[in-house]
Amino acid sequence: MPKGAWVVSVMIETKGLTKYYGDFPAITDVTFQVEKGEILGFLGPNGAGKTTTMKILTGFMPPTSGSAAIAGYDVVTNSLEARRRIGYLPETVPLYTDMTVEDYLEFMGTIRGMNKKRIRQRIPEVIEICRLGEYQGTLIGKLSKGFRQRTGIAQAILHEPEVLILDEPTIGIDPIQVVETRQLIKGLGKEHTLIISTHILPEVSMLCQRVIIIHEGQVIAVDSPENLAQRLQGTERIIIEVRGPSRDIIATLRNVPGVQNVGRIATITDGVNSYAIDSKRGTDLREKIATTIVQKSWGLLRLETESMTLEEIFLKLTTSEDLKGGQ
Ligand SMILES: Nc1ncnc2c1ncn2[C@@H]1O[C@H](COP(=O)(O)OP(=O)(O)OP(=O)(O)O)[C@@H](O)[C@H]1O
Ligand SMILES: [Mg+2]
Repeated sequence: MPKGAWVVSVMIETKGLTKYYGDFPAITDVTFQVEKGEILGFLGPNGAGKTTTMKILTGFMPPTSGSAAIAGYDVVTNSLEARRRIGYLPETVPLYTDMTVEDYLEFMGTIRGMNKKRIRQRIPEVIEICRLGEYQGTLIGKLSKGFRQRTGIAQAILHEPEVLILDEPTIGIDPIQVVETRQLIKGLGKEHTLIISTHILPEVSMLCQRVIIIHEGQVIAVDSPENLAQRLQGTERIIIEVRGPSRDIIATLRNVPGVQNVGRIATITDGVNSYAIDSKRGTDLREKIATTIVQKSWGLLRLETESMTLEEIFLKLTTSEDLKGGQ
């Protein structure tokens, strides 16, 4: 494949992206790529670093270190070209409440440097796409949250950007509008490359081809929702508490046939740790694990199986230190 073709197929790329607010590392070494036409879910609990990453991608602020590029244009050194290709729905959309939807869109087009003719052509199109027809003459201050969100999406797609970055697009809107907004986003995915941040798991399954789970500023898993669900739901998990040297225990148990992953969960008391052992669904490694531990003369204090839902896995991934399996 010619080099140029490869560059075009990666629309969003970050390398070792790190951002400090003062001494606080909001994101550390965030590296990922998004291919053209992909919808990437950015999943993480409050404070994970989703908005920070998005603000860097959209040129809102520079990273402390690392780099990011949109369609090959560095967001810092070639910010104008990068931003031209991005539509951004911020977490809090800075809408002007005393403007009508139509006037606001015209205003946004003007400050983005679109010419008047193009703005006039484009406004009815985005109003149609976002199904804002009934409200185009309504003051933004009078719109419900869901329609404000759609107005936010309308401004994001106005200049026909190739890349859309939507920060929690369905937060705070009622269930019916959530369904409609998701349909709208899904439709946008046909023409754009998208990153959407969310902390709602089903939303990710519905919309995204690939998911990045971010926690405390670090990427802890990257996979398709199906693989993630399968990896998580299709896994048999054994929880053990063992007295003994952590490193040896993990290394030894990883070598037990059938074991896919071993991670330390927590320190219980001095010298005693809990671990999670994953194996394929349908396998029962309890006896093998128990025998191995006893043969090594470590103290086995607890051993039980645990089955998990996707929600539980997400919680596990984002609340325990050493369960970063499957990266
Ligand atoms: N301007 C700032 N100054 C200092 N710390 C900040 C600033 N903005 C964000 N942070 C901190 O950086 C971390 C990441 O914040 P960020 O807003 O990126 O998270 P998020 O994943 O978008 O969370 P949420 O789901 O709540 O929107 C948090 O601990 C937050 O408190
Ligand atoms: Mg946020």
